[in-house]
Amino acid sequence: MPFIEALWFIAPAYAANSFPVLMRGKVPLDGRRFFRGRRLLGDGKTLEGTIGGILFGIFIGLIQVFYQHLVPQEWGLRLIGMTAPMVVLLSVGALAGDIVGSFIKRQRGMERGEKAVPLDQLGFLVAALLFVAPVFIPNVVTLIILFIVTPGLHLVSNMFGYMVKIKNRPW
Ligand code: CTP
Ligand code: MG
Repeated sequence: MPFIEALWFIAPAYAANSFPVLMRGKVPLDGRRFFRGRRLLGDGKTLEGTIGGILFGIFIGLIQVFYQHLVPQEWGLRLIGMTAPMVVLLSVGALAGDIVGSFIKRQRGMERGEKAVPLDQLGFLVAALLFVAPVFIPNVVTLIILFIVTPGLHLVSNMFGYMVKIKNRPW
């Protein structure tokens, strides 16, 4: 089940990336500073959201670390063994990628919340993979699956967030 195995590995990054909107943060991470005439990050990247996202990603990842031995053998899954350093790097990496993405969007003159494909969907994934690379590099099949399914999952989760009114835009 390579699909399940890929999702298992990236779960802390997904969790970290999807949680910030729930924090309803107020304090802009960039301190409202400007860089080359544009907002550094914009009001969509808050201190509360960033910290909450990282902690939630680590929380989910640690549940995996502590309970992975309980996944029944009969399911036939070859789950990647998760460790605390992997969990932290995936979570911090996901938020770092999201933040760098906002920096790039602002420098290109795009407003907060404006759609940027594929940066919005894949930026956090690329950064999470780069951050975790020093301690773990998944196989090529896993990487391909992640790059194929992440944009779709990102869109579906954002549309859901929009439907239940926790997100302003359906992307
Ligand atoms: N959010 C946050 N802190 C973060 C990331 C996200 O508080 N580090 C919250 C913000 O309320 C943000 C929402 O989650 O508006 C959705 O996140 P995202 O789509 O990444 O931000 P955008 O508002 O689209 O802003 P940008 O154009 O900079 O990506
Ligand atoms: Mg957005």
